[in-house]
Amino acid sequence: ARIRHYKWEVKYEFKSPDCYKKLVITVNGRSPGPTILAQQGDTIVVDVKNSLVTENVAIHWHGIRQIGSPWADGTEGVSQCPILPGDTFRYKFVVDRAGTYLYHAHYGMQREAGLYGSIRVALPVGETEPFSYDYDRSIILNDWYHKSTYEQAAGLSSIPFVWVGDPQSLLIQGRGRFNCSTPGIAADVCNATNPECSPYVFTVVPGKTYRLRIGSLTALAALSFEIEGHNMTVVEADGHYVEPFVVKNLFIYSGETYSVLVTANQDPSRNYWAVTKMVSRNNTTPNGLAIFNYYPNHPTRSPPTVPPSGPLWNDVQSRVNQSLAIKSHPNYIHPVPKTSDRVIILLNTQNRINGSVKWSINNVSFTLPHTPYLVALKHNLLHTFEQTPPPDVINGYEKYDINVVAPNVNATSSNSIYRLKFNTTVDIILQNANTLNVNNSETHPWHLHGHDFWVLGYGSGKFNASEDPKRYNLVNPIMKNTVPVHLYGWTALRFVADNPGVWAFHCHIESHFYMGMGAVFEEGVEKVAKLPSSIMGCGDTKRFIRP
Ligand code: C2O
Ligand code: CU
Repeated sequence: ARIRHYKWEVKYEFKSPDCYKKLVITVNGRSPGPTILAQQGDTIVVDVKNSLVTENVAIHWHGIRQIGSPWADGTEGVSQCPILPGDTFRYKFVVDRAGTYLYHAHYGMQREAGLYGSIRVALPVGETEPFSYDYDRSIILNDWYHKSTYEQAAGLSSIPFVWVGDPQSLLIQGRGRFNCSTPGIAADVCNATNPECSPYVFTVVPGKTYRLRIGSLTALAALSFEIEGHNMTVVEADGHYVEPFVVKNLFIYSGETYSVLVTANQDPSRNYWAVTKMVSRNNTTPNGLAIFNYYPNHPTRSPPTVPPSGPLWNDVQSRVNQSLAIKSHPNYIHPVPKTSDRVIILLNTQNRINGSVKWSINNVSFTLPHTPYLVALKHNLLHTFEQTPPPDVINGYEKYDINVVAPNVNATSSNSIYRLKFNTTVDIILQNANTLNVNNSETHPWHLHGHDFWVLGYGSGKFNASEDPKRYNLVNPIMKNTVPVHLYGWTALRFVADNPGVWAFHCHIESHFYMGMGAVFEEGVEKVAKLPSSIMGCGDTKRFIRP
């Protein structure tokens, strides 16, 4: 195994990823940032210099479990204090499993300002994948807002509440196209001929097969991705091999990664469109376009056809069907424990607290503490956050009607956490419900840090604790780190609490997490090795660096 050393400078720069000029957080001048390429077992060292001048930062390595290095998870408020302007922070961790992962800012709503990228971990020499391909490529799908994260965050926490609205455009590998002739857009901020917003070009050699690693880091949008005229075979999800299945379009939620195989087997005399479309909520966001270019055609030659229009935004069944289709590859099944020690039912509701709109889990809207949990728990600074844990199941769950607006829309805010007994098996049931609007429920992609979980099942309506577990897939469930809970439905997960540390579990929609849609799990914190002083400096951790 090797050590791979990266030196990153994070700073604001003017960029025009969709032709509209705004301040973007870049890594070494780029957004998406550099791709981390490594091999299973390698140690990654990233020295992050914060040159944002007036803003803190922290970077999370999404999908990397941080076994033995929980302080390197990059989650501000959970695993570390933020990196101050001017400071350099060293992240050091092992990539212990081949697969497709991501990295992104994990401080406030900074991710959507452009700080994100791909991590690609190859198998060790001598091991082979259960499929073959000629070339390997990574792309990140994203949505894009023109307002600053500050303006958005301020709106979300003001009374009256100001929602972020639909994204202005969709980006494919950092490139999109906003219509600069939209009324009210000044010519000096939007330039349709800027090369920064020329479409992303994916060049293929006729007859060759490509492994396309697709990650989504949208702030809000659930996406459908397709390549005109080409089928895709899904072979990997969140770092795990799936029983291959063919799709025309792939649904992908924020925080998920997939590998698909695409063969360039169509008429090679022309180019094709690759399209992303926002689904799951009615929206005004135009589709994102890239060019699937058959060599040696000119890469920027527009395909002669109208881009495919994609599925209907409200075609829920197709999305649910894809979730149900994902099973573990038969030769790579991780046996799932047949029973669990604890069942936590997390009811997802939209609420009001003092007049502002929040998301709550079991009537608790999550807030981050000022002292990171990892330090607080390891050093027994228990006064730094609320000690009464949130409930495993809300009172009155049996009678709760998920199909209507909550009868009592009030919730409480808290930074309390779930403490799990080390090495126990935990089931999490994500239960969706109606929002504050009549006849409305939203899809939420939930992401767990520090673990992969088995996806035991999905259901519509309310989870029935005595009947539904009988239908769990205990034979070949896929393991993932991010999973959707579909509207008015439930999703059942199982994981073993065997990774000492403190781990966030949250909706990956940036504004939803900001509005409280999250929880935190602690397990085996007493087994965590001595914490590096580099993660300290804020809140009550100051005592350790200035004795
Ligand atoms: Cu990719 Cu806690 O996030
Ligand atoms: Cu959400």
